[in-house]
Amino acid sequence: MQTSGIIANLALIALRLSAFNGIIGPTEAADCSTVTCDNGGTCNNFTVSPACLCPLPYIAPNCSNAADYCYTLQPDKGITALPVCLNGGNCTLTYTDPYFNCSCPDSHTGFRCDEMVTTTVTTTAPSTAEPGLTDGETAAIVVCAVIAAAAVVIVILIVTKVIPVPCGGSSSVGPAKS
Ligand SMILES: *[C@@H]1O[C@H](CO)[C@@H](O)[C@H](O)[C@H]1NC(C)=O
Ligand SMILES: *[C@@H]1O[C@H](CO)[C@@H](O)[C@H](O)[C@H]1NC(C)=O
Ligand SMILES: *[C@@H]1O[C@H](CO)[C@@H](O)[C@H](O)[C@H]1NC(C)=O
Ligand SMILES: *[C@@H]1O[C@H](CO)[C@@H](O)[C@H](O)[C@H]1NC(C)=O
Repeated sequence: MQTSGIIANLALIALRLSAFNGIIGPTEAADCSTVTCDNGGTCNNFTVSPACLCPLPYIAPNCSNAADYCYTLQPDKGITALPVCLNGGNCTLTYTDPYFNCSCPDSHTGFRCDEMVTTTVTTTAPSTAEPGLTDGETAAIVVCAVIAAAAVVIVILIVTKVIPVPCGGSSSVGPAKS
């Protein structure tokens, strides 16, 4: 009795070791003859669960449903907080990478509506030109102002007799002194 007990225990230990080292195959693999995997999934014949190995975005047990990427954290895409679509964007599932699509409000863009739409450049350009002056108008005003200022200075200088009134010369500045 004692000897058979030792042999039984040794056999059990050997069985556990061989199973641990993978010598004996999985004892509880799914019966793939009864498993149907949708959407291109393959039956998992290594472990009992999950029944199917599924291509993205489909999920176990039988690849019939897609993962809800609109409500799933995806650290590989930098999505470490929900919601997936930011700033009021609406999320719909797609079947190609990244498996979701954000419909953004006009103010935002980007695959998560995470970028501001910059409309300031296109809106400010016409608004400044419309009420303002053209370059030609500005130049004309500057020229007139310079001429007017020069005339005022010359008149002041003549009145204060800092410069003599030219007499009979070819100058066009002022009338001849009488
Ligand atoms: C597991 O399934 C694949 C196909 O899905 C097949 O090629 C392979 O031989 C199977 N392996 C076992 C151990 O049944
Ligand atoms: C897939 O799994 C679900 C839930 O287990 C089941 O209701 C459905 O019938 C399965 N579909 C197929 C094709 O096996
Ligand atoms: C995402 O949705 C917008 C409209 O909301 C559409 O124009 C665009 O084609 C969609 N993109 C993908 C990859 O489905
Ligand atoms: C999101 O969906 C709601 C409800 O359909 C709609 O009122 C809203 O305008 C949508 N927002 C965007 C940015 O598409």
